[in-house]
Amino acid sequence: MKRILFVDDEENVLHGLRRMLHPFRKEWEMVFTIGSEAALKALAQTEFDVVVSDMRMPCMDGAQLLNEVKRRHPQVVRIILSGHSEMETILRSVGPTHQYLAKPCDSEELKKVITRACALRDLLSENALRALASQMSSIPSLPQTYTEIVTELQSPEASIQRIGQIVSKDVGMAAKVLQLVNSAFFGLRHHVSDPAQAASFLGVDTIKALVLSVHVFSQLEFADVEGLCLDTLWTHSAMTGALAKKIISEEDGSEQLRGDALTAGLLHDTGKLILAANLPERYAEVLSIVRDDGASLCEAERQHLGNTHAEVGAYLLGLWGLPDPIVEAVAFHHTPRGCLGEGLTPLMAVHVANALMHAPGHSAEATDIPSLDVEYITQLGLLDRVTTWQSLCSEMAEGAAAQ
Ligand SMILES: [Fe+2]
Ligand SMILES: [Fe+2]
Repeated sequence: MKRILFVDDEENVLHGLRRMLHPFRKEWEMVFTIGSEAALKALAQTEFDVVVSDMRMPCMDGAQLLNEVKRRHPQVVRIILSGHSEMETILRSVGPTHQYLAKPCDSEELKKVITRACALRDLLSENALRALASQMSSIPSLPQTYTEIVTELQSPEASIQRIGQIVSKDVGMAAKVLQLVNSAFFGLRHHVSDPAQAASFLGVDTIKALVLSVHVFSQLEFADVEGLCLDTLWTHSAMTGALAKKIISEEDGSEQLRGDALTAGLLHDTGKLILAANLPERYAEVLSIVRDDGASLCEAERQHLGNTHAEVGAYLLGLWGLPDPIVEAVAFHHTPRGCLGEGLTPLMAVHVANALMHAPGHSAEATDIPSLDVEYITQLGLLDRVTTWQSLCSEMAEGAAAQ
């Protein structure tokens, strides 16, 4: 049974929550504490899966509490449930918080967010990897892209279009703006999956404050891991996103699907970055096993780290509240049959785009493309489309080479 800790400074708010969540008492063990001190005591005594905290509390507020929880119990999922949606609150709590919920929050919404957080914890079986992923408050950006956005934001003529373009090509920046915009503070009725659209929702001033004062983006501060060139990883991510979108367009998929496919492709290998940033030596070892023994990357990762880069990446993006179709595509991009789904999905597009991008020469028979799951594509009734998608891939590769 999952253990959830609720923290508020007002007793009647906790009473309200207790009453509202009464129907879920068989699924979760819930503890309600008044104030941060009591919460930290409870956390020291027993292990919790999720903490849901109010923001405004005397002595130690929600942001300070969650910072402390992050430091002392990094594996715990951290959620702010706040009635104060002013920008200052968001800025203060953006670092330690995985997700924000706005008060009043109905029981279904709260249940959905907590259930999803618990399901994600099951996706990642390794406790150490959970701790390491949930400790990350940003995914590092390439230094040149980081400099580009800072320069743009400092310019008196900073434009949201240019900011959107920069954010859309960077894994870390795209994930962060999507986390913020999809949070309840913005109260949007449908999910946003396009990073440029997310940037325009936030606006120049907010992004400026987030980047220049709160430092929500970070720069890559580690070198390539042996066997993994980070520059190449970025190019591969951006190209996979672009190809996944082209595949959906070619099949007349909706605008929403195209956006989801683009972003899921851009973010599909986020887990590699998380592993390279946090466990460089162990990850280099895994990569050398792949090179020397011919094992598949996912097999080697599972055997030596406990989970794959796909699971680690999906875990963090899920914790950040990114839309489900994107998290699913990231989680199953190497094992698409692990996820139920029919027809055109971002997962299908990202799986194919990734396999084609990894296939040297870009012109093999479908059955000769090493990481393409032919049975999956056949089940979807799309096998005869692979040649067309290969041509899209070759066009893109030639276009990129000509630049
Ligand atoms: Fe991958
Ligand atoms: Fe990949």
